[in-house]
Amino acid sequence: TVLVVDFGAQYAQLIARRIREAGVYSELVGSDVPVAELLAREPAAIVLSGGPSSVYAEGAPQVDPAVFEAGVPAFGICYGFQAMAASLGGTVARTGDREYGGTPLTVTTPGQLFGQLPNEQSVWMSHGDAVSAAPPGFTVTATSTGAPVAAFEDVDRRLAGVQFHPEVKNTPHGQTVLEHFLFDIAGLEPSWTMANVVDEQVASIRAQIGDRRAICGLSGGVDSAVAAALVQRAIGDRLTCVYVDHGLMREGETEQIERDFVAVTGADLRVVDASEQFLAALAGVSDPETKRKIIGREFIRVFEQAALDVIADAKEHGETVDFLVQGTLYPDVVESGGGTGTANIKSHHNVGGLPEDLTFTLVEPLRTLFKDEVREVGRQLGLPDTLVQRQPFPGPGLGIRIIGEVTRERLDVLRQADAIAREELTAAKLDTEIWQCPVVLLADVRSVGVQGDGRTYGHPIVLRPVSSEDAMTADWTRLPYDVLARISTRITNEVAEVNRVVLDVTSKPPGTIEWE
Ligand code: XMP
Repeated sequence: TVLVVDFGAQYAQLIARRIREAGVYSELVGSDVPVAELLAREPAAIVLSGGPSSVYAEGAPQVDPAVFEAGVPAFGICYGFQAMAASLGGTVARTGDREYGGTPLTVTTPGQLFGQLPNEQSVWMSHGDAVSAAPPGFTVTATSTGAPVAAFEDVDRRLAGVQFHPEVKNTPHGQTVLEHFLFDIAGLEPSWTMANVVDEQVASIRAQIGDRRAICGLSGGVDSAVAAALVQRAIGDRLTCVYVDHGLMREGETEQIERDFVAVTGADLRVVDASEQFLAALAGVSDPETKRKIIGREFIRVFEQAALDVIADAKEHGETVDFLVQGTLYPDVVESGGGTGTANIKSHHNVGGLPEDLTFTLVEPLRTLFKDEVREVGRQLGLPDTLVQRQPFPGPGLGIRIIGEVTRERLDVLRQADAIAREELTAAKLDTEIWQCPVVLLADVRSVGVQGDGRTYGHPIVLRPVSSEDAMTADWTRLPYDVLARISTRITNEVAEVNRVVLDVTSKPPGTIEWE
């Protein structure tokens, strides 16, 4: 395991992902973890991440030199690079000159880190202070205008570092630099593959569950589908899947689970049609948070009843249901355990919430995985792309994409418009370019239009295509005009009630991805 010490940068998770992409398993640890504890985990290498602070700032996390004395290979990035320099006897100058964004880098000595890479290359920088003298024993290998020492290495001690961010796509050779550290300096071998993950997880799920029974709630999303498919592979029909149809899904999605998921996995699936119950609970409500709370509450109620039914059925055969499968991902684990306190901007409903007397032991086979890895595991398990490549879709579904009260008629209108937008985006092969594209019905807004010989007074549909790495920040996707034109023409022609299509050109922040 390569441990990435998180100095509070949003980059730390990305670093761990890139290391795994190189085929080496990697995990994050907080910068408050004592060195002894870090070393007790016998890491194959340690990577010190970037961080928001200056090494001179009051309370800035420091690096105990003991980390570098243990003989474990170490790599410093940005703040981690400066902390490494400071801790080993180099000099960090408070230049106050910020270097930010794409920056030309000159490789002065190729060494192991840069190897055959071009001497002049562009790298992504984001720093104020700079290392002005490398610690004793280190070779300076690169420089930039704002960073006299932009990279250094001590191959004998297997230590190296860079001022720039090799983990971001804006550093074109970044991944190669990272791999040079992992393979050429630290001497590691790539062995982290998703085929291995499937084998290991199946074995460990069997060991955990034994010959008992488990239940899994399917949401229609990638994570729960892959988690369920893994558990299904491990324990077969001792897993029961429950899918709560809240009536707020998009066109064809419920059928996809009922048909495609079951066809591939052979899972024992119970579909609970609760759409009447959800609609009744949502009647007259247009406040976004209230809608979210209602949907979350009803979901738990319906799921709880379904779980009790599964338990009752098992009891008839003298069996118990002891385990609940959840598709928790590594970033959720990091965020809930990390305690860095990201503000709860919207209440996400699909987390926790079962009553205390209904207790299960959790089975979380995706706990160590990033999203890309989960998709790959799904592919290994034979799940179709429609499921594995599915873009994010919020738990409360179309309920938070109708601005105003949610009714069956409005859901039908939105579902038609959304299906057209998705169809055209897929036909234009834009699915992988877009993170997701919410389609929103402004149900409380009307505008005047003209169609045929008549005046219309209909509702606008908003297209919200966004590009993102992690949904924390996003930019609006510059869709080709001809695609936008086709979507607009088709929606206004084919969906009665809609006479206008508008494009949301707001980034996040300040806008969120969803409208509610
Ligand atoms: P926002 O609107 O906060 O959305 O920018 C960020 C990402 O989260 C999704 N989202 C949700 N996902 N339950 C979910 O599972 C929810 O309640 C929920 N609300 C927003 C949203 O689609 C985007 O991908």
